[in-house]
Amino acid sequence: MPENSPRSTLSVTDNRTGRQYELDVLDGNVVRAMDLRQIKVSDGDFGMMAYDPGFTNTAFTTSRVTDVDGGRGVLEYRGYPIEQLAERSTFLEVAYLLLKGELPTQAQLDGFVRGVTFHTYVHENVLTLIKGFRYDAHAMGMMISLVAALSTFYPEAKDVDDADSRAAQINRLVAKMPTLAALTYRHHRGLPYIYPENELSYPANFLNMLFRIGGRDYRPNPVLERALDVLFILHADHEQNCSTTAMRVIGSSRADPFSAMAGAMAALYGPLHGGANEAVLRMLSEIGHTGNIPAFMESVRKGERRLMGFGHRVYKAYDPRASIIKRTAEDVFAVTGRNPLLDVALELEKIALQEEYFVKRHLYPNVDFYSGLIYQAMGFPVELFPVLFAIPRTVGWLAQWEEMVQDPEQRIARPRQVFKGCEPRDYVPVESR
Ligand code: SDX
Repeated sequence: MPENSPRSTLSVTDNRTGRQYELDVLDGNVVRAMDLRQIKVSDGDFGMMAYDPGFTNTAFTTSRVTDVDGGRGVLEYRGYPIEQLAERSTFLEVAYLLLKGELPTQAQLDGFVRGVTFHTYVHENVLTLIKGFRYDAHAMGMMISLVAALSTFYPEAKDVDDADSRAAQINRLVAKMPTLAALTYRHHRGLPYIYPENELSYPANFLNMLFRIGGRDYRPNPVLERALDVLFILHADHEQNCSTTAMRVIGSSRADPFSAMAGAMAALYGPLHGGANEAVLRMLSEIGHTGNIPAFMESVRKGERRLMGFGHRVYKAYDPRASIIKRTAEDVFAVTGRNPLLDVALELEKIALQEEYFVKRHLYPNVDFYSGLIYQAMGFPVELFPVLFAIPRTVGWLAQWEEMVQDPEQRIARPRQVFKGCEPRDYVPVESR
C-alpha cells in the first residue's frame, strides 16, 4: 500500500480502560464482529458484542446472487437490472441465472426447462395429505405443510453436500410448487384436480391446473400468461430478506432443502413480509372507495394502522418492482377489465407520497402494493396471494441456500444475546411461595 494512503482500519479507544484497538475495515465498510471481542475491561471479560435486533445493520453472509441498492431503488439479479429481465427474459431463464450465476445458452435453457417440465407431478400420496385439510384451510398453511412433507418422499435430500442431490431437489421444488399451489386451490373450491400438462409453459401450466373446468382444452390468455411470468421474475429473489434469512439459518444446521424451505415459507407468510400482498387487498377492500381514504390515513398517522404495501427495510426510494407491476397491471386490466380498487390504490399512493409522515420515513410502495390487484383481476382468491409470492421465491431461496451450503465461511447460525434476566437465585419449595 503506498506510504501516504490512509490505513483501512478503525482506531478505537475504550475510554473505560484507555486501551486502543485497530479494527480492519473490509470491503470499504465492513468490520468483523469478532474483532470486537478483543475489547475487554478485564482478562476474564467476555469481550465486546454488537447489539442489532432485526439485523438492521448486520451482514451475516457474503453473497453473489442479488444486489439491492435501497437508496437508488436498484435491484440486480447476478448483475442484470430487474427492468431488463422483466422486459426481455422469462421466469425459467431467470431461475437458471439465479441458480447457476450466468444466463443460459439456448441448449442449457432447453435442458433446464425440460428438467423442470418432467418433474411437475407430485406423489399421489400428497393428494391424500391435502384431503386431510378443511375446505377453508389457508393455502399458505397447506403449502408449508406440503413442502415439509415432500422431505419424507426424498430422504436422499439430507445429503446437502452432494451436488447432484442438491440439483435434483432444487429441480423438484421449482417444478412442483405450482402443482402443489393448484392442488390447494382446487381443494379449497371442491374441484377435481387437474394434472400438469408438459406442452404448456411454466405459467400456462400453472393457470391450467388452477382454472381449467371440464375436459375442454384450456389455453390462458397470452397477456395473462406473460403478466404472471413477469410477476414471477419480479418476485424471484431479494437478497437477505426475512424468509431468505430463515432459509439460510435453518439450512446452516445442514437440514434438507425441503424442511428449510418450509421454514422460509412460514416466514414469508407473515403480514409484514410476503403476506402483505393479501393484507393490501383486504385493506383496499376495507377502505372501499376514495372517499374513505382521509379517515384511514388519519388512523395511519396516529400509528393505529399501517399502510400495507408501503415501506421497506432496504428501499428508501420507490421499489423498482412496484413500478413494473404498476405498468403490468394496465396490461392485465385491458384483458380482465379494470379492478375498481385500483382507483383507491392510486389515490392512496398519491396522498402518501405527499404526506409528511411517509416522506419523513421514506415510505414508498413496495412489491406488494399493486401485485394483489393483478392477482384479484386474474381470478386468484386472496388466500393464494402469499403462495403466488412463494412459487417464484422458491428459486431465490434455493439459490441462496446452495450458496450458503458451499460457503466455507458459513457455520451453524447461533447468535449471542444480551441477558437482562434475574440474577442467580435458589429454588423455593411450593409450600414456601
Ligand atoms: C416484502 O426485505 C425484503 O426484501 C422484503 C421483500 C422481498 O422481496 O423479500 O421486499 C418483500 O416483505 C415487502 C414488505 C411488505 N410489507 C408490507 O408492506 C407491510 C407494511 N410495511 C411495514 O410494516 C414495514 O415498512 C416493513 C416491515 C416493510 C419494514 O419495517 P422496518 O424496516 O422494520 O421499519 P419499521 O417498522 O421500523 O418502520 C419505521 C417507521 C416506523 O415509524 P416510527 O416508529 O419511526 O414512528 O416507519 C413506520 C413505522 O411505524 N412505518 C409505517 C409503515 N412502514 C413503516 N407506517 C405506516 N405504514 C407502513 N407501511
